[in-house]
Order: sequence, then C-alpha cells, then structure tokens
Amino acid sequence: MTNETVLDALKNVTYPGFTKDIVTFGFVKNVEIEGDKVSVLVDITSSAPEVKAQITADVTTELKKLGFLAVDVTITAPQAPKQMSNSVSGKNIAPHVKNFVMVSSGKGGVGKSTTSVNLAIAMAMQGKKVGILDADIYGPNIPRMMGVHDQKPEIQGNKVQPLKAYGVEMMSMGSLMEDGQSLIWRGSMIMKAIEQFLRDILWSELDVLVIDMPPGTGDAQLTLAQSVPVTAGVVVTTPQQVSLDDSKRSLDMFEKLHIPIAGVVENMSGFICPECDAQSDIFGMGTSKEMAASYNAELMAQIPIEPAIRVGGDTGMPITFHKPDSETAKRYQAAASSLLAFIDKVNAEGGADNSAVQPTTPPGVSACSTGGAAAAQPAPAKSSAESCGTGCGCH
Ligand SMILES: Nc1ncnc2c1ncn2[C@@H]1O[C@H](COP(=O)(O)OP(=O)(O)O)[C@@H](O)[C@H]1O
Ligand SMILES: [Mg+2]
Repeated sequence: MTNETVLDALKNVTYPGFTKDIVTFGFVKNVEIEGDKVSVLVDITSSAPEVKAQITADVTTELKKLGFLAVDVTITAPQAPKQMSNSVSGKNIAPHVKNFVMVSSGKGGVGKSTTSVNLAIAMAMQGKKVGILDADIYGPNIPRMMGVHDQKPEIQGNKVQPLKAYGVEMMSMGSLMEDGQSLIWRGSMIMKAIEQFLRDILWSELDVLVIDMPPGTGDAQLTLAQSVPVTAGVVVTTPQQVSLDDSKRSLDMFEKLHIPIAGVVENMSGFICPECDAQSDIFGMGTSKEMAASYNAELMAQIPIEPAIRVGGDTGMPITFHKPDSETAKRYQAAASSLLAFIDKVNAEGGADNSAVQPTTPPGVSACSTGGAAAAQPAPAKSSAESCGTGCGCH
C-alpha cells in the first residue's frame, strides 16, 4: 500500500457542497502508513463542524475499503469567527441587537444628534443592519433629521414598529408624541422609557443600535448601561475648553459604567468659507485630541462647521447620504469604519459586560439611596472587584 493508493482513494471524497474532491482542492496535507494503520491530515477552509464531520466520515469509509484497520483523520480548520455579539454576559433586555453604541455629550447643541444620524447612516451604507434610538427625551430631534417627523409608527399589539429611513430603523419619543408637546420627566419615568425603547420596539436583528442620549450623565445613561451591555461609547464635543470640560465628564462616565470608549468626535471643528475656501477656527480645532488620548481613546473625526450639515439636519437630508462625495461625508464614513473596527475588537476580546454596574438593591428600593432600607441590605452577591457596589454607576 502506498501513499498514491491512499490519495487515489481520497479522490472519492468530495468536499461538502462542491463537486471537486479534497485531493484536487489540495486539502490533503499528509498521509502516513504504518502496517494496517493510516493517518491522514486534511486542512480545510471551512470552520463549520458539519463539514469536518462529513469529511472525517467519508475519509474513514474510503480508507477502510482499502483494507486499513485503523484510520486516523486529523482535520485542521480556521477558528470559527467570534460571533459579533455582546449579549453574552451581564444583563441584556434586547438580546437580538448585537451591539449598542452610546453617543453622549457633556452639553446640548454640540451636534450629538447630527453625529448619531450620520454615523448610523454611514454604517448602514457600509452594509450593516443599523438602528438609531433617539433616547434624548428632552430634545427628540432625530425624526426631523431623518426626514420622518411627519410619520407615525405602526403599533402591533403592545409593541411598536420602528420607522425606517436611509436604510436605518429609527424610534424616538418625538415620533410617539404630538409636535411641540413636552413631558416633565421624573427619574423613574426616564428609566421606564429607556427600558421600553429597548424592549417594546420591534427592532430587527441589528448589528448596531446607535443610541442618541440626552446631554450629560444622568439616569438615562445609567439605565441604559444597566439594561444592555454597551459595546462602545462615543463622545461628541466641540473644541472650546468649556465643552471639553463637560466632555471629560462623559468619558469619565463611560469608564465608571464599564463602557469601552470608541473615541471622540470633534464637531464644529473649524469653518471652511464656502465662498473663499479659507479656513477659520471659530471654536478652535484639534483641542480634543489630547483629551481623547488621556482616556486612551481615538479622535474619530473632526467635522467642520458647514452649512450643508445644518441644512441636512433641518430638511431631513443627512449629508452622508445626500452628499456622499463631500469631504464631511467621507469623514463620517471613516469614523463609522473605525467605530465598526472598534466594535469587532471589543467583541474579539470577549465583548462588553455590564454585570459590574447592575443595581444591587431589591426592587422597590432606590439603588441610589444612601440610608434606610438600601443601606441595611447585605453586601451585594454579584459585585465584581471593580464595582463599588452602590448600583449607582460607582460614583
Ligand atoms: N458641523 C456642523 N456644521 C453646521 N451645523 C451643525 C454641525 N453640527 C451640528 N450642526 C447643527 O447644530 C444644531 C445642533 O446640532 P444637534 O445635532 O441637534 O446637537 P445636539 O444633539 O448635541 O443637541 C443643529 O441645527 C445641527 O444641524
Ligand atoms: Mg440632540
């Protein structure tokens, strides 16, 4: 019996799903014969366990037909890609969404919603299934910016179908309330609203849900971080020192909430005069680089002040979609690519985990209470070494 006889026999083993055999494909890497024993090494390109099992069975059958009593098949295959999902640990009330991106800012008016919309659209244009949740209950602007402010979502039983624009699923308190109506939000109502946005909206199996938060670091941020494992935090800032001061608080919050920081978007970073192309530093430029670096985060993009961005927001025609060749759209696309790469990296390293920020007080007791019933509770069972155990985001 020679190696050639064995290889000839292995030509009868077709690669599952193809008409060619494993020898012709060049997958058989080694054959060793020792008396009535044969060992074969096959190196395949699929990580699917059923392909491996099928080849092992077929190779064994063919070689036993040749009279071998012992057939040893070793199959090497690439590692199965890590599932792009962070729903593995901690609490997740929306497990069909693979990744959550929290977009925060220290102040209002710095372009958080504009950034959320353009990043979401850019990721969708790059082939991802994307949703955008307007969790800014005080200033729900996303419906107008996405051009769907006159649409009402469809209700299905006690769930709500998200609206869709530019290939992105969208839900906002603005779409559920009448125009111009205001609600006075208590902390407990904010928590409930955030939970319902995650649980009662019929989001598809999204790759990424971008969440436009209210400005600051409050109940909404904490509730979100406790409800789902947030894969990436993005801070939007303008370049002035007073904005940077507040943005540091957002970065600090991400750290305390155990949210991996994808980076900082510096918005309103310089102004390019449409008439003369001259650049002026209205709010300064590049000032957030140092701040990002001090949190080991990237400066993901510098977006200039540009009338087309404001017009895109007001008319529901976002610049990334409607002027894809513009320099600004390209910068949003580059920021989206780096965000997606960051998400992959976080997941490859085990995914986001919010178990350290779970409330540790029983239902009905304020997690942030410092006295009375809450203080009388025994030490939290599940608190990790890094958790302060207050359930209040470790402040
Ligand atoms: N880079 C920019 N150039 C011009 N206008 C901008 C830019 N970024 C945001 N805007 C405009 O500034 C206003 C505030 O932006 P918005 O995204 O609503 O901020 P936030 O969500 O932080 O409150 C909006 O009218 C928006 O269109
Ligand atoms: Mg906003």
